[in-house]
Amino acid sequence: MYRGVSIMRHHLVLAVGTLLIAVALQEPSLAASGPYGGVDEQAEAAWLAAFPHLPLPATLLLEESPLTSKQASYWSTKLLSQSYKLSSQDSFQLCSEARLLCTPTPRLRSPLPDDSDYLPGDWIIYSESAPSKGVEPIPPGRFFKLEQLYTGASMLMPSLNHPVSSTPYLPHALAQHLPVNAPSSIPSLLSLLGISNSSSMGYVINGIVQRCSHKEDTELGQVKRCAASIEDMISFVVERLGSAVEVLESQPTPQFLKNATSNVTIKSLNLRSNTATNNLVCHKLLFPSMLRGCHELASTKVYEAQLQIDASDSSPSIYAVAVCHFDTSKWNSGHPAFALLGTSPGKGTICHWIRADEHVWLRVQ
Ligand SMILES: *[C@@H]1O[C@H](CO)[C@@H](O)[C@H](O)[C@H]1NC(C)=O
Ligand SMILES: *[C@@H]1O[C@H](CO)[C@@H](O)[C@H](O)[C@H]1NC(C)=O
Ligand SMILES: *[C@@H]1O[C@H](CO)[C@@H](O)[C@H](O)[C@H]1NC(C)=O
Repeated sequence: MYRGVSIMRHHLVLAVGTLLIAVALQEPSLAASGPYGGVDEQAEAAWLAAFPHLPLPATLLLEESPLTSKQASYWSTKLLSQSYKLSSQDSFQLCSEARLLCTPTPRLRSPLPDDSDYLPGDWIIYSESAPSKGVEPIPPGRFFKLEQLYTGASMLMPSLNHPVSSTPYLPHALAQHLPVNAPSSIPSLLSLLGISNSSSMGYVINGIVQRCSHKEDTELGQVKRCAASIEDMISFVVERLGSAVEVLESQPTPQFLKNATSNVTIKSLNLRSNTATNNLVCHKLLFPSMLRGCHELASTKVYEAQLQIDASDSSPSIYAVAVCHFDTSKWNSGHPAFALLGTSPGKGTICHWIRADEHVWLRVQ
């Protein structure tokens, strides 16, 4: 199907080629391109320098800022010269050019599950302080036991599609001026994006920036970092894992699954990382620009699996990544996984699938 679309598009391009060239000459964002063909040349150059043997994942290409380096430096200069205050017209223009989510009431693709990693609550462990609005109960299959994970096993699986839709990252040049880990920058952030502190998005920004200002999770003792630009993510990965890395991502689940749960059969299973090695996971957070909450994974095993959805013979199998936590002794006893699996902190292993749009970084063995 995709091939068909691309062939059609190819013919269309031929037919209107002259027109496209004319548009490209006037539109700098079409002309600009980094080594992987995206607009954010600087982010792509940083990726190539850090990970010369790792192609830029297609999903990350889509998360690049649509701003050209010229536009990024225009806005940086403007921010600095106006002491981080923009007129509402400029805020609107920045939000629209950079495709940011500047709405005061962000809407989600689906209700947030009650284990949300991207709410202003603790995005590593479950928090009682998560707002209840729009939150739905944990679906069965969100967490499972290690014993359930083997080739041929059948188990319930919720949709792996992410409830938070993707916004692009800010270009690094702009993100640098808006530190998401400094609570003192909240007023500037809100004012720049034209968002009121008392709105839902204001609440989200306050919570996320508070969380991001801690570089270590005190309870779990894990190093964590919020990445507000592709460059931020690259430097955290290089700092913790080095340059010989790979990144795993679950595929989105088919649309017909929506929020329903369905049994899947594990057709194949592959252990990718053992408990002796630390890895990183980068969750997508709800924020006006792409913001990933990255943290180290210790005492975990990482698996990749091909899953067949039982309800549909015709649907292709899905590639999904699972993480199993072998040490839950420091988890909040209110974590819904314990209730779902009938266990408690420190007892047994807790596994879950990684949602599509989240990254698991491994050292190349
Ligand atoms: C902004 O809202 C947060 C709660 O969302 C509150 O804690 C904070 O004090 C408010 N800041 C100002 C300046 O009103
Ligand atoms: C999703 O779940 C809600 C609440 O359980 C239900 O009302 C809705 O019909 C479901 N949608 C689909 C596509 O299954
Ligand atoms: C899903 O699998 C479980 C366990 O294998 C089984 O008990 C249940 O009946 C299955 N549900 C469906 C809808 O196939």
